[in-house]
Amino acid sequence: MARVLITYAIPEPGPTLLRQAGHDVEMRTGEDIISREELLVAVTQYDAMLTLLTDTIDATVIAAAGPQLKIIANLAVGFDNVDVAAAKAKGIAVTNVADGLTTAVAEHTIALLGALARRIVESDQFVRAGKYQGWRPQLLLGTELTGKVLGIAGLGRIGSEVARRAQRGFGMRIVYTDLKPNPEFEREYEAAYFASIDDLLPAVDVLSLHVPLVPATRHLINAERLARMKKTALLLNTSRGPVVDEAALVAALQQGTIAGAALDVFEHEPELAPGLAALAQVVLTPHTASATIEARSTMSDIAAKNILAVLAGQPPLNPAR
Ligand code: GLV
Repeated sequence: MARVLITYAIPEPGPTLLRQAGHDVEMRTGEDIISREELLVAVTQYDAMLTLLTDTIDATVIAAAGPQLKIIANLAVGFDNVDVAAAKAKGIAVTNVADGLTTAVAEHTIALLGALARRIVESDQFVRAGKYQGWRPQLLLGTELTGKVLGIAGLGRIGSEVARRAQRGFGMRIVYTDLKPNPEFEREYEAAYFASIDDLLPAVDVLSLHVPLVPATRHLINAERLARMKKTALLLNTSRGPVVDEAALVAALQQGTIAGAALDVFEHEPELAPGLAALAQVVLTPHTASATIEARSTMSDIAAKNILAVLAGQPPLNPAR
């Protein structure tokens, strides 16, 4: 029997799977995420930890870990909150939820795109504020997506699924950038590859970000790159906040450098860059792209199964790399 800590209340089936396997499972309760002090103690006591993307498992926390800690199973596809190299050096497995949330995040990205292009949030606020006086020829004009160019930065699982939905659903044309081209994807979606994001930016009507947060992608979208985009362009970010220089984005939106942005993630989450919330041409969601009943249950299942595998002496199913 191993000791497992789940750092926050999560949906089933993960907790039950772990208990049914005979493990001693503690799931924290309450609103607050685990404090650094609590984390530093937990890593000396538990054999496995199921963590949130908001739990900072840096080199100091890993250094404090006792020899009993075998696995950190992150309830996320991203794992920039964990120092994977430090964990690996200490023989601690780090896992993610692989494609457990691909559909949810792709669908949310498309929902943000529709909301932004057709000014759904602004329109909703307009109606609720009692400003609707009747049909007008130029009231709240949006933009159509059919035939427009969607640029995908990061053609992984989520980026590909966003492209598929945008092309099949809206008839958008797809261009993308990634470390390497994907000829099969290009054939299937008549997509064009750009080795450099700088070359891709002037070509897109919509840019959607699907890269992991690593040193090379921090502020991937900065003031210079925003200036390369069309004035009518829209930006979608469902990846990680620091991929965008948020202050530069606010300035670009204020100055009309680009037309709008829909963000599910923020550079200094949960804080927003000054001025962001005052902008009409933005749609903001609180890091809920994977927040579906289906995805959260699958994520719970995958995280628990990774813990079960490692505690049984088997390799992790979804190692972070
Ligand atoms: C969410 O942001 C995730 O990485 O799963």
